[in-house]
Amino acid sequence: MNEYIALPSLPGELNQARVQGHLTKVMKTIKRNIPCIGERNPKIGNPDFSWTHCGAFDWVSSFWAGQLWLCYQTTSDERYKNSAMLRKSYFADMLLDPFWLDHDLGFQYSLSCVAEYKLTGCEDAKMMALRAADHLLHRFRKVGGYIVAWNDTHPLSLEKPDVIQGKSIIDSLQNTALLFWASEITGAPVYRTAAIRHSETLAKHIVRDDYSTYHSFNFDPIYQTPVKGETFQGYADESCWARGQSWAIHGYAQTYLYTKDDNFLNLAKKLARFAAESITADGVPVWDYRLPENEIQYKDSSAGAITSAGFLLIAQALEDKAHALPQGDDSRVGLLEEAAQFSQWGMYLLQGLMDQCDLCDHPTAEGLLSQGASFVKVGLCDNMLPYGDYYYLEALMRANGYRNFFW
Ligand code: GLY
Repeated sequence: MNEYIALPSLPGELNQARVQGHLTKVMKTIKRNIPCIGERNPKIGNPDFSWTHCGAFDWVSSFWAGQLWLCYQTTSDERYKNSAMLRKSYFADMLLDPFWLDHDLGFQYSLSCVAEYKLTGCEDAKMMALRAADHLLHRFRKVGGYIVAWNDTHPLSLEKPDVIQGKSIIDSLQNTALLFWASEITGAPVYRTAAIRHSETLAKHIVRDDYSTYHSFNFDPIYQTPVKGETFQGYADESCWARGQSWAIHGYAQTYLYTKDDNFLNLAKKLARFAAESITADGVPVWDYRLPENEIQYKDSSAGAITSAGFLLIAQALEDKAHALPQGDDSRVGLLEEAAQFSQWGMYLLQGLMDQCDLCDHPTAEGLLSQGASFVKVGLCDNMLPYGDYYYLEALMRANGYRNFFW
């Protein structure tokens, strides 16, 4: 087992009864918010804890649907399902407009159409998710072995057209789940092969030697050879954007689940260790793990939620490995001890969020967590974020032993 990293204790106790009670409370808060959100998709919170909603086809558009589907899966309450299904035409329309189709198809369709298909068997939802997977697959560049992140037609002009075809980003390690699912459903290995190669390529280039990460990595747009790491939403090219690190932790743990390749699990563990060593004593990550002390130390509760879910996912994978070994096998105890450490780190982050960011007791808050940092450099900080909320629910469910998710 690796050297143990003891995280500082937070005040109060986070026992199983509290985690269970809080999951119920979070699901009730989600139900309470169904009427005010209606058919819209939350994008970012306002200071009064209402939502600003997405315009057409935003990368965040599925995270409310994902929460509704998880609540439906857990409670069988049709109100969650009916509300989630109100978004179907939105996801159908999106597939008609190539302008919007980028690497975020994985987030958008795993938490909407894949979820619906898994829970209801709806064939339309399955076909929509498969079409999204085809669009995602076509972004895979065979020579360089990476998935192109963005489009040169993007309205924010994130990058010049001569760079865009070589641009990969760390968030996409979550999006590959759609490709793994598509291979399972169709029996065609091509999606899975692309997902694995992309994950391997990013492991080589976007992960640094100390297991911190770049946000993005540029390849030569024509020859597809590696060029350099950069940031988009982090503090600096050589810093470590906390949410980026969380995408990699959860993403590689998830890739292990689909492939059972220990290289991916070992990488997730090392990335997780870097995060555990970098989290401040109150249990909520600062938005960049290498932020200079003279900068305002904004928190990012969404990074805390994704990291917590990732740690708990690693713990579950290690437990499963231990339980697959015969009783008396020497490695069993070590794996279970390691699983306990990752579980403790996941609970530590969960407690940080519950104690400092949770909005369930706020009478009118339309979301679950305060203090998310969407994009600090353009002034988007200290907000509710729908992805923070989604992964908070996922982490609470994992802490309660749930294992079925839509990735
Ligand atoms: N996918 C962009 C972000 O994490 O903000």
